Formats: sequence, C-alpha cells, structure tokens
Amino acid sequence: MLSPRRAIVAAAFILTVLFLLSRSHNAETPIRTAKPAPAAQDSKTNAAPPNRPAPAAAGRPAAEAGAAASNKSPSGQKPMMDISKLPLREQLAHQYPYVLESKFPAYIWQTWKTTPADESFEFREQEASWTELHPGFVHEVITDDVATALLRLLYAGVPDVVEAYRALPLPVLRADFFRYLILYARGGIYTDIDTSAIRSAIEWVPDSVPRNSVGLVIGIEADPDREDWAKWYSRRIQFCQWTIQAKPGHPALRETISRITEETLRRKRSGELNDTATLDRNVIEFTGPAVWTDTVFKYLNDGRFFNLESGPAGTVDWRNFTGMEEPKKVGDVLVLPITGFSPGVRQMGAKEYDDPQAMVKHDFEGTWKPENERHIGEIVETVVTEKPKKEKPKA
Ligand SMILES: *[C@@H]1O[C@H](CO)[C@@H](O)[C@H](O)[C@H]1NC(C)=O
Ligand SMILES: *[C@@H]1O[C@H](CO)[C@@H](O)[C@H](O)[C@H]1NC(C)=O
Repeated sequence: MLSPRRAIVAAAFILTVLFLLSRSHNAETPIRTAKPAPAAQDSKTNAAPPNRPAPAAAGRPAAEAGAAASNKSPSGQKPMMDISKLPLREQLAHQYPYVLESKFPAYIWQTWKTTPADESFEFREQEASWTELHPGFVHEVITDDVATALLRLLYAGVPDVVEAYRALPLPVLRADFFRYLILYARGGIYTDIDTSAIRSAIEWVPDSVPRNSVGLVIGIEADPDREDWAKWYSRRIQFCQWTIQAKPGHPALRETISRITEETLRRKRSGELNDTATLDRNVIEFTGPAVWTDTVFKYLNDGRFFNLESGPAGTVDWRNFTGMEEPKKVGDVLVLPITGFSPGVRQMGAKEYDDPQAMVKHDFEGTWKPENERHIGEIVETVVTEKPKKEKPKA
C-alpha cells in the first residue's frame, strides 16, 4: 500500500515518462495541457470523404460533432476555456478529441494490487507475454492507489469523472471503470492482468483493413446460440472488456464513461453505493460487459457518428456478429471473432489457442472477477470449481 503522496508521485512519474516518450517519438498522445492538435485533424475529421471505404460498414464515420473540432486556433493550440459548465459528454470530448487517422498509441495498461516490482506479483508469465510480443511499447501495471492519482491528473478538467471513480466502493468496479478511462485519455491496449498475449496487437487488425480506418478493436465474450441463452448470459452477443484496443477519445468509450459517471453519482446521492452486497451482484450491468456491449451497439447505430442513410438499411445488432469466424469492421469498430479474445472456451464456436485467429488467452478462473457471474453456465462450472479461490483484490 503506497502512501497517498507516493501514489501521486508515481502517477506524475508515469505521465512524465509518457510525455517525454511522446515528444521523442513524435507520437500522437501529447500531454493534455499544451496539446498541439495533430495537423491533419481539422481537414479530415470535419469532412469525411464521400467515398471513404467502409467494408461491411453501417456507414462511414461522420464528422464528430462538438466543440473539439471547431475550436482550434490556426496554430493548433487549443484556446483556454472553462469547460466545467459544458455537459459531461462535451467536457470529455473537449478534453480528449478523437482522431480516427492517428496511430494506435503503443501503450499496454494493466491494473493489479501489486506490480512486477513486488516479489509477491503473481502474474509474471502473463505480464511478460505482452512485453515480449510488443517491443517498444510502454507497459504499465498500475495499482489502485496509483490509478486514483493518475485519473485525478488525467481528468482534472472533468471533476464528475474523478468524483465517480472515487465513489465506487468495490475494487472490481474501479478496475472496470479504469480501463475505459485510461484508454479514453491515452489510448493503446488495456488487458486484464491474468490475460496472456498469444499474438502481437499488430496482427489484430488484418492486412486488408486500413489501420487508419479503425479506432476500436474489441472481441466477443459470448455468442450463445441456444434458446435459453438468457438464463446464462446477460446479452445475446456480449463484447468482452478484459482486452480492448482503442485510440484516445473514442466515442464509444466516451459514452460508456458518461453512463457510468452519471449512474455512479446518482447512486452516490441516493445512498445506493452503501449497499455493496447488491452492487457486487450487478457489476455486469453497472460497469462491466453489459454496459460496454450496450454502448458499443448504441454507437454503431448512432446517426451522429455514422451516415446511416448511405449505409445498408437496418439496425446493427447481435445478428451482425453472431457466428463470425473472421474479424468484421463496422464503421471504425473492428470486432474479432470469439476465437480472438476467447479462444479455448470449447463452446459458442470458439476455436483453440493455436488457431490463427486466437490473439489472447484469458483466464476465466478468478473468482474476484465479474465475469465469474456472467459465465454462470458451463465455463464456471467446469473450470472454477476445481481451482482454489483467488483472493479478492483489496482496495
Ligand atoms: C446488419 O444486419 C442487418 C440484417 O440483420 C443488415 O440489414 C445490415 O446490413 C447489417 N449491417 C452491417 C453493417 O453488417
Ligand atoms: C451512505 O454512507 C455514508 C458513509 O457511511 C453516509 O454518510 C451516508 O449518509 C449514507 N447514505 C445513505 C443514503 O444511507
């Protein structure tokens, strides 16, 4: 357990390292204060070319509405303005604008109660698999204390988000929220600590898909093709959130963050956060894959981001992703088949770890994990029962 002061120092150190790296590599994630707008942004995000290729897309990503794009001065420096009066979503958009054409930042983010520097760190092999397959990436394992300090720095301009994060009473809720927040602010890959890399993230996006047309890479957690799916799973298609790759400012992350923030603050005011036993049973809907899945689908059907008229008719729903064997891009979202992030589960069409589509190996066994509740079906019964219980991460 770090003292609060040391946690802040650690968070500031991480930000300083990122800042120096971004300057020396001319990366696309400069620190927030003094953010030079990427040169290409104004012209490209404001005017989506009419014939932008969007294979299998509901439509092409349209220009992002909001203050972010229109407020640039010619020098590219964002004028100082008080964003605290803006609605939450606009504050977030202003703070971290989305640039589809930018590169995926070379970061890997993980959270756990200890870091590899601690002798007791339990996930050395898994952690090393990411470092080995991603040379040149900045890889950070962040503890709860440092996460709080880091988010206070990154979201100083959006105080509701910081208040919500600090109000969440369970480590599992904060761990869920942290992944959306760090990816929204800095981009890169978030992956759970007990997840190993099988293939480099370079391979997640197939060669046939231009990298500058994808802003979010996600996997399928569950695709239960059975009549009684609702008995076992919260959604007919559930996207996983143990591994996500994103460019900073992605609108689906923004919506997820906004929903969790609003719901957390509502519950804080009504006193519902005090009842941690009830919260513990509702992690999936509150911060977990159910809210994530819902906001991704909402985004894919949102006329503000996609030109729905010019795309194929019909809403995008689970039918568009069921039974997939290859990655599929809809708009700027690349969805990997279930084998991508959930290989080896021996159901729902998932293939084995040696399949060319298998990208990460996720450990479903941790009883501290929210997906424990969502995999009330076969997976938990066959795997979890024979394993010793893992300790819950503590605050
Ligand atoms: C999604 O599926 C519907 C039919 O269920 C189809 O009309 C639509 O074109 C599909 N959209 C995409 C983007 O694949
Ligand atoms: C919730 O708990 C906090 C701290 O224990 C307390 O101050 C607050 O009054 C409680 N709220 C409700 C509505 O019970």
